[in-house]
Amino acid sequence: MEREIRVGLCGCGVIGEGLVKALHEHADIIRARTGAPIRLTAAADKDPARLDLVRSHDTSVALLDDAFEIPKRDDVDIVVELIGGVEVADRLVREALQAKKHVVTANKALLAERGASLFALAETNGCDLYFEAAVAGAIPVIRVIRESLASDRFLSVRGIINGTSNYILSSMANEGAAFEEALKAAQEAGFAEADPTLDITGGDAGHKLALIAGLAFGAHVLPSQIPTEGIDQVDPRDIQYARNFGYVIRPLAVAQRVDSGALDLRVHPALVPQSDPLAHVDGALNAVAIQGEMVGPSFLSGLGAGAAPTATSVAGDIVDIARNLLAGAPMRTWYLPVEGEQRIQPLADLSSRYYLRFSVRDESGVLASLSGKLGNAGISIEKMVQDVESGAEGTATIAILTHRAREGDLRASLAAIDETHLTTAPTHLIRIVQ
Ligand SMILES: NC(=O)c1ccc[n+]([C@@H]2O[C@H](COP(=O)([O-])OP(=O)(O)OC[C@H]3O[C@@H](n4cnc5c(N)ncnc54)[C@H](OP(=O)(O)O)[C@@H]3O)[C@@H](O)[C@H]2O)c1
Repeated sequence: MEREIRVGLCGCGVIGEGLVKALHEHADIIRARTGAPIRLTAAADKDPARLDLVRSHDTSVALLDDAFEIPKRDDVDIVVELIGGVEVADRLVREALQAKKHVVTANKALLAERGASLFALAETNGCDLYFEAAVAGAIPVIRVIRESLASDRFLSVRGIINGTSNYILSSMANEGAAFEEALKAAQEAGFAEADPTLDITGGDAGHKLALIAGLAFGAHVLPSQIPTEGIDQVDPRDIQYARNFGYVIRPLAVAQRVDSGALDLRVHPALVPQSDPLAHVDGALNAVAIQGEMVGPSFLSGLGAGAAPTATSVAGDIVDIARNLLAGAPMRTWYLPVEGEQRIQPLADLSSRYYLRFSVRDESGVLASLSGKLGNAGISIEKMVQDVESGAEGTATIAILTHRAREGDLRASLAAIDETHLTTAPTHLIRIVQ
């Protein structure tokens, strides 16, 4: 009798429902490409109404309200964790691995926080733990880093890996919307959660970058170690000045090895030159630019979230594990070895170019005084514009692009400037991508 691969689904929310559709509607394609049918045998969600779709496709699927029943079942080979969160998902994945079930998850928060011990547990139990959908949704970043480019040394991975932030900054740039307005539009369009905190503060991108740093650089990094700034500080004026200077502001995540041997990891909005492919990744799209020693530059772009794209990545992982099972070779494609703790470069040591926006008194001599103070700190100016601020009598804005400087030196100089009578508000800084 032909072997079938049996899947147990934990969580039938946005992505779970997308997976149910993908497995049902593409059953023939999946069967042909896997060499065996893949069948959903059990599904769990706290809300039974969310299992209606499963019921409508196949009345033989066991429908449960407790995800913890799934790993216990004999008719499940692969447990798919789509409940989200860290604590409960961690227990669920552990129970699945201890029961010798293979696991697919889309949960970046879980793997960024607990990945090291979960991958070790998977190895101990001879199980696969796949997570393509956890980073950049439908874009196959994990596979490219882990498999296609497995022989290369990675020099840098830069990306737009939070679609909500990119959607908001794009709306601000394209429609002239203010931040709050753009956030509301993102929520109405279904691109932002009711609580968008993790997206707009950079936390979600930090989770994904921690996974990328593990894969590409062998680094065991916790999200809390990654310098992270959200897009909530970007002002429409910054977008306008950036455009006039020939740049676009994008929510960026960067992982690269610097000359000192440390890892430069950071999440923040950045000025990207209009000639850079990342500048053209608009709206809710994600993109990842990889620079390898041998391969040179590669660029991947696509939908980073949403039911169908993310579920397609989850289904791809299920197919991969099914192939491993059919070949009798679980763990055929393993998580790259993590080399352990590595030094993360402090932001103060970052060497970068910067965009600065000063709010100053509209008086003679201010400009000369400001550039003199920057010059004394070794910060040289590449470009500068000065505008009288509308609606704020007696104040002006000076926008500056600097040449390369050490961030610690620049910040010390800005702190000193902001203590003088020259500025009327704290100076705003955005890094320029290299
Ligand atoms: N949405 C995206 O575009 C996207 C993209 C990439 C990755 N992901 C990741 O995919 C995962 C799922 O996201 P989602 O958007 O599908 O979330 P979701 O819509 O909130 O779905 C999660 C479902 O699991 C249920 N659930 C929670 N705990 C359970 C338990 N112990 N037993 C049974 N059911 C339980 C939830 O019920 P209640 O609501 O009643 O708690 C909910 O129906 C997350 O890790 C997320 O980070 C999502």
